[in-house]
Amino acid sequence: MASLWGGRFTKETKEDAFSFNESLSFDKRLWREDIEGSIAHAKMLAKQLIIGKSDGEAICGALESIYIEIEEGTLQISGHFEDIHSFIETQLIQRIGDVGKKLHTGRSRNDQVAVDMKMYVRREITEIDSLLKELLRTILRLQEENLDIIMPGFTHLQKAQPVTLAHHLGAYFEMFKRDRERLFDAYRRLNVCPLGAGALAGTEFSIDREYTASLLHFSSPTLNSMDSVSDRDYCLELLSALSICIMHLSRFCEEIIIWNSNDYNYLELDDAYSTGSSIMPQKKNPDIAELIRGKTGRVYGNLFSLLTTLKGLPLAYNKDLQEDKECVFDACDTLKTCITLFTQMLDAIVFNEDVLKKSAEGGFINATDVADYLVTKGLSFRDAHEVTGKVVLECQKRGIVLSKLPLADYQAISDRFKGDLYQRISIEDCVRARESFGGPAKNAMKDIIKINKDYLEKTAIWEEN
Ligand code: ARG
Repeated sequence: MASLWGGRFTKETKEDAFSFNESLSFDKRLWREDIEGSIAHAKMLAKQLIIGKSDGEAICGALESIYIEIEEGTLQISGHFEDIHSFIETQLIQRIGDVGKKLHTGRSRNDQVAVDMKMYVRREITEIDSLLKELLRTILRLQEENLDIIMPGFTHLQKAQPVTLAHHLGAYFEMFKRDRERLFDAYRRLNVCPLGAGALAGTEFSIDREYTASLLHFSSPTLNSMDSVSDRDYCLELLSALSICIMHLSRFCEEIIIWNSNDYNYLELDDAYSTGSSIMPQKKNPDIAELIRGKTGRVYGNLFSLLTTLKGLPLAYNKDLQEDKECVFDACDTLKTCITLFTQMLDAIVFNEDVLKKSAEGGFINATDVADYLVTKGLSFRDAHEVTGKVVLECQKRGIVLSKLPLADYQAISDRFKGDLYQRISIEDCVRARESFGGPAKNAMKDIIKINKDYLEKTAIWEEN
């Protein structure tokens, strides 16, 4: 067995204690970051004359070949090693002997794992961001195609006021846009380099932390060595941003599930994203949407798990911190799969335009428009609301919608009603009239779509900052 700390020990770790302690089985995915971090550290050691120039070159060369071999699959990450750091360092020493043993000068696994995790989180944020961008592109395309498709807008899951499908989808566009911004915020805040903090108290060697920070594309080094090795705020920020993001996906899925139900029938899911029942031949179930909704729980779970792990930790490094990894890995993996599948599923949905429109015609959805009409005829809104309430009651008694009540009956309730009412409360006019900024009318929507198109054309938000 290869451990990095044999000197003061007289026996090997008990096998089950070793298994309990090891993290290689899951932190092996940090191999890229670990090698990149080590190369930067070795370059810095050589530049500062802490190790010889040729030693630095030998270390970097060997680390580069380890990188290539892992990438090509000729070197498997396995064996009896505590973690990825031990695995890579052992490989290095096996290849170049004693020179390899110089790499860990002025460094600890504590700052090493901190820098690895930060680089990993940065990479995940970039990947998740591009998936979100793809989702936003799909939503925007659907919006442009559905500017005229009228549907009910709901409050309390009851028909409230008519909107368009484009407008409803636009609400999700804004949510996922905020998710990208939250990820960007987390990225920007985490992007300071902990390498050089050592175990907790820095080092006596004359290291150049600015240099390693810039080699690894961090904006600057961290300012306190104890905080550097014990900070996992960025994992929590990532997990909260991902929790909010999957909550948005889950809400969208919930609507898709409702809209796909027999009685709503607002949309058809593509066969490729639904499943059948083993007993009921007629079934076509929205499993993908339900599973995304279901997976929200595990992402929240990861956030709470890590918050709880961190709450009682004294400074500085404690092994508890190793528990950050599976929470972060699982949440990132889950989000990437969910966003990808959701985007494909959404892209393939067929909306039943006639059903949406017909649904918007029921439920006295244009009652606010009757009241607004009365305001244009000189009533105060409060009085108009009262009068319209009476009209609704009358229609309810007769079992008819507002547009079917004869003018004479309207006028029996208020003499402000005139023949132009019917045009004004047609569902099309109700939507067309709502031209306020951010509203559902086609004219208003076009402005917003333009804003969001420009936004999507920008490169990744952090590339510009
Ligand atoms: N596997 C460890 C972790 O993820 C690496 C750091 C170990 N440091 C230590 N002092 N035991 O946190």
